[in-house]
Amino acid sequence: MSKINVINPKLAEILANAPSNDVARQDYFISIAKEEIQRRSDELGRKLTCCVNTFGCQMNARDSEKILGVLEAAGYVESEDEHSDFVIYNTCTVRENANNRVWGRLGYLSTIKKKNAQMIIALCGCMMQEDIVREKIKKSYPYVDLVFGTHNIYRFSELLVQTLFSDYQIMEILDDSKKIVEELPIVRKYAYKSGVNIMFGCNNFCTYCIVPYVRGREKSREPKDIINEVKKLAADGVIEIMLLGQNVNSYGKGLEHPISFAELLQEVEKIDGIERIRFMTSHPKDLSDELIDVMAHSKKICKHLHLPVQSGSTNLLKSMNRRYTREHYLALVKKIREKLPDIALTTDIIVGFPGETDQDFEDTLSLVKEVEYDSAFTFIYSKRTGTPAASFENQIPDDVVKERFDRLLKVVQEISAKKAMEYTGKVVDVLVEEVNAQDPSLVTGRLSNNSVVHFAADKKFIGSIVNVHLDECKGFYYLGTMVTE
Ligand code: 5AD
Ligand code: SF4
Repeated sequence: MSKINVINPKLAEILANAPSNDVARQDYFISIAKEEIQRRSDELGRKLTCCVNTFGCQMNARDSEKILGVLEAAGYVESEDEHSDFVIYNTCTVRENANNRVWGRLGYLSTIKKKNAQMIIALCGCMMQEDIVREKIKKSYPYVDLVFGTHNIYRFSELLVQTLFSDYQIMEILDDSKKIVEELPIVRKYAYKSGVNIMFGCNNFCTYCIVPYVRGREKSREPKDIINEVKKLAADGVIEIMLLGQNVNSYGKGLEHPISFAELLQEVEKIDGIERIRFMTSHPKDLSDELIDVMAHSKKICKHLHLPVQSGSTNLLKSMNRRYTREHYLALVKKIREKLPDIALTTDIIVGFPGETDQDFEDTLSLVKEVEYDSAFTFIYSKRTGTPAASFENQIPDDVVKERFDRLLKVVQEISAKKAMEYTGKVVDVLVEEVNAQDPSLVTGRLSNNSVVHFAADKKFIGSIVNVHLDECKGFYYLGTMVTE
């Protein structure tokens, strides 16, 4: 028997009085949530806590900062512990195992909820954009209070209020972002570095990838909004920013006054206070000579380029719809290395894509050896329902994939270790990020090329750039000594 969702009269009144302007509307709902959280907190004689658990990529990490911004503005206190009054999973669905982790943990959350009547369980992010996922939640996870998608984040405070005043499951999903709402509260995870969205969505439709279906069509933010955000961050003490988009190289298309990603970078470079600029992710087919030149002349853009190749076989690249060939990719790498000799190159590689022959895989191995990546993320192909590749013939048997994956990983690791050794003995700029988790007498910092170094220093250096001698390479990280104060 299905439950009838009767709207609470108080909620009906709140909704009727809401302003229509997006920003004013969300502020209005934050103030209502705040009153209600305060009331509950007074009743319980303690602060209400919230826990935001993020799966997946940097885009999700940035979205989680927005979610936490609203929760804190409403009066929740952040906690790392899932025994909290509000727990939200910001989900990823790029690979099946990301989904499985969420299903597994939801069972655990239900046991916590049984002991805390206040508890609200919420789910958002890419996985929620999938119809089958939402059907499963409706059917089998009635104790989930709130579900929303990747295009509804700007409405989160409103959804929070609806959840606080309802006793049924709230579910709101939009198929695509009609608008980009600026100026919502954000709680940054780090004081000195921040992600900045420059665009949302993806138009590329690589045949294995679910992102275009769950994140919608590519949409760039206005340059002036991006610049204003970066200026505000700089004024707030941020020295490193990471410009975020699924395909930053096609930034600016579709704007009323189109500008290129390279032009945007030049504008960001001018902002005082910003000392390091990173960006993620570049598609090889769109990486322009203009961008390489801007990087070569920049004092702030980090010496790191993440350039996902996915496969070293032109045949496979074609069936992945990547729209470049092995030769094109290698020529691009050559050009980049000529103009940016000290750049660190990293990549993503998929093993076991449907139809991958022994020869295709050997082509990937040989490309990895030729490029000599500083590091590479290697993924086993995961079949995503709704993508073209899910219905391709010649899905590769698990044992073959596993054997190829292990071989690739070994080669990748050997090359990474060799590349890392090349820096040993050098003095480099390091942004001090945090006290070392294992040894509090050390701090951990990051080089321009994205590698990590541990060294003895006072925690007062966190958030500043210092010179560090790289004493020893430990494979994936360095041990060093600070050489200036
Ligand atoms: N299976 C395995 N890996 C995938 N990726 C994207 N979709 C899939 C999939 N279906 C990888 C790609 C991409 C990275 C973010 O995730 O390598 O660059
Ligand atoms: Fe997915 Fe390809 Fe878009 Fe990257 S470029 S998000 S792999 S469709």
